[in-house]
Amino acid sequence: MLDDNFRQFIKEQIALPEKKWDSAFVDYIQKKYQELQKETGHFTAEQELEKGFQRYLDCLDISKDDLMGRRILDLGCGAGDFVKYCLGQGISREAYGLDILIEPEEINPGYRRFFLKGDFEQGIPLKDFDYIFSVAAVDAPYSEEVDRNLRRTVISALVALKHEGEIRIFPVRKAPPASGLAGIDFSRKKWMELLDDLKSKNWINYELRPIDIRAAGNKPDVWLEEVLIINKELVKINF
Ligand SMILES: C[S@@+](CC[C@H](N)C(=O)[O-])C[C@H]1O[C@@H](n2cnc3c(N)ncnc32)[C@H](O)[C@@H]1O
Repeated sequence: MLDDNFRQFIKEQIALPEKKWDSAFVDYIQKKYQELQKETGHFTAEQELEKGFQRYLDCLDISKDDLMGRRILDLGCGAGDFVKYCLGQGISREAYGLDILIEPEEINPGYRRFFLKGDFEQGIPLKDFDYIFSVAAVDAPYSEEVDRNLRRTVISALVALKHEGEIRIFPVRKAPPASGLAGIDFSRKKWMELLDDLKSKNWINYELRPIDIRAAGNKPDVWLEEVLIINKELVKINF
């Protein structure tokens, strides 16, 4: 996990055109790019689970202590390892996963009731969560051709949240100016339009907190990844 000063530094750098980047930022991009090329190594199933849980904490910028005893929902939970870890380690007795591709009958019977098959764009079948998380699942469309109902997803999550609860979604991406990363620019614009609209109605407060950069592709392409933290302002939100 990067320290706060460095996170602020990368956020400032990504807002500048490439020509103006500080040499420390250029070196960091190179380091991140090399990390991506490295072999991942072999880990036991237990170590994989631990690593996966730590990845969630890092991406969501949250601590294990924050999760203790909380009612949690993971939108787009994939194989559900984060939920299983929270339940298995006694971090939460009420951690749930929702995924469109999940087959609950394939999940260990001890955990099965915590997994739901469904499309988060069509609504969330449970309520009263302290935290609703999403890692690499909820996202804005990348172009006009992509049909994704981000507004409905976010409002469904607000409805399913306790008043003092929090939604954390990772990543919201930001490309440097004139980088040519049109898909990232488009999805960022869609996020900002939605968030600013909900904030102007006093339904939410939100924060975009920098987590790290990604360097990928041949150039490499570089972008910032932030966690979106949404708090509910209005007591009762209906569609
Ligand atoms: C890239 S995986 C990430 C899985 C997990 N969050 C992780 O980080 O390991 C994205 C997951 O989101 C799920 N997903 C995508 N769109 C969805 C939707 N509209 N409703 C429910 N699940 C969805 C996919 O089925 C997939 O399991």
